[in-house]
Amino acid sequence: MKISNPFILSGYISKEFFCDREKETTKIIEAIQNNRNITLFSQRRIGKTSLIYHIFNSLKIDKNNACIYLDVLASTSLSEFINVFGNSVINAIESKPEKFFKKVKDLFSNLRPVISIDSLTGSPSFQLTIDSKQEAEKSIEGIFNYLKSQKKKIQSSN
Ligand SMILES: Nc1ncnc2c1ncn2[C@@H]1O[C@H](COP(=O)(O)OP(=O)(O)O)[C@@H](O)[C@H]1O
Ligand SMILES: [Mg+2]
Repeated sequence: MKISNPFILSGYISKEFFCDREKETTKIIEAIQNNRNITLFSQRRIGKTSLIYHIFNSLKIDKNNACIYLDVLASTSLSEFINVFGNSVINAIESKPEKFFKKVKDLFSNLRPVISIDSLTGSPSFQLTIDSKQEAEKSIEGIFNYLKSQKKKIQSSN
């Protein structure tokens, strides 16, 4: 990727712009390959999120891996959480918007999904209206069943 400013001010771009963290990267990949859970904790802006994206970038070279990044910080209710969870999961697995929307329709047709595409990034997303505990349970069950049905190995961060 060609950029005019050589200094990255936000987000993860690619391994070429990611410094050091070699020991941490190897250690975490080893843990993931051995099905060990990991908790990263530090003050803000030390590089946790970037390290996760860096590791995902390397794991995704193997097409049998699906990597899911889930940021629940902004969720203030169960309904918001389900929407963030569902969008992260389906976006990480379905590579094309048409497939994404078909999957959303298959899984949640009874939950009135409103679908859209981000005009800047082109990423598809959906919004479910969840009015009851039953609808919440049904949608979470739908997301987990979808995950279980995957042939790919799922790696997640939350
Ligand atoms: N290893 C790294 N190499 C280059 N830039 C990095 C590295 N780690 C973090 N950064 C940059 O530092 C900033 C904060 O990192 P971030 O991953 O968001 O921290 P955290 O998740 O711990 O709050 C981001 O702008 C990110 O691009
Ligand atoms: Mg972070």
